[in-house]
Amino acid sequence: MQPEEAQLHQAPQSELVAKGEALFNDPSIGESGLSCATCHQDFGQYKETFKKPYPHFVNMANAKAGLDKVNAAEMVQLCMVVPMQTDPLPWQSESLAALAAYVQDERKRFAEHSR
Ligand code: HEC
Repeated sequence: MQPEEAQLHQAPQSELVAKGEALFNDPSIGESGLSCATCHQDFGQYKETFKKPYPHFVNMANAKAGLDKVNAAEMVQLCMVVPMQTDPLPWQSESLAALAAYVQDERKRFAEHSR
């Protein structure tokens, strides 16, 4: 689903993660009034698959888009479109790179936490 030519915006990892965290908690990024954190606070809604490094199988991605596996950016886009009912972010945007970086940090915490 990520176009082959689309390279994510590049920036230092710590900068992206900090921006991603702010966006994750921002209810104005979508049109539904929800923020990512509305559903994902305290690791809410994450399934077992989220413990594995990307790319990996995600039920929602398979059910809604027929994908066998997704990377972090693709998972952000899927949650933008499906539960957030919003347009996907531009592939080269800083926002997408930031959310993808934050989600990968979140994944590590989730894997640690539920061990
Ligand atoms: C209305 C609830 C809701 C909102 C809002 C939401 N999500 Fe999700 N998200 C889900 C559900 C449900 C799943 C579980 C999907 C699955 O495992 O099949 C999920 C799964 C995920 C996963 C883990 C998938 C995996 O296993 O790799 C990530 C990462 C994620 N969401 C990121 C986001 C981001 C970023 C946003 C904001 C742009 C967001 N979500 C907004 C409901 C939501």
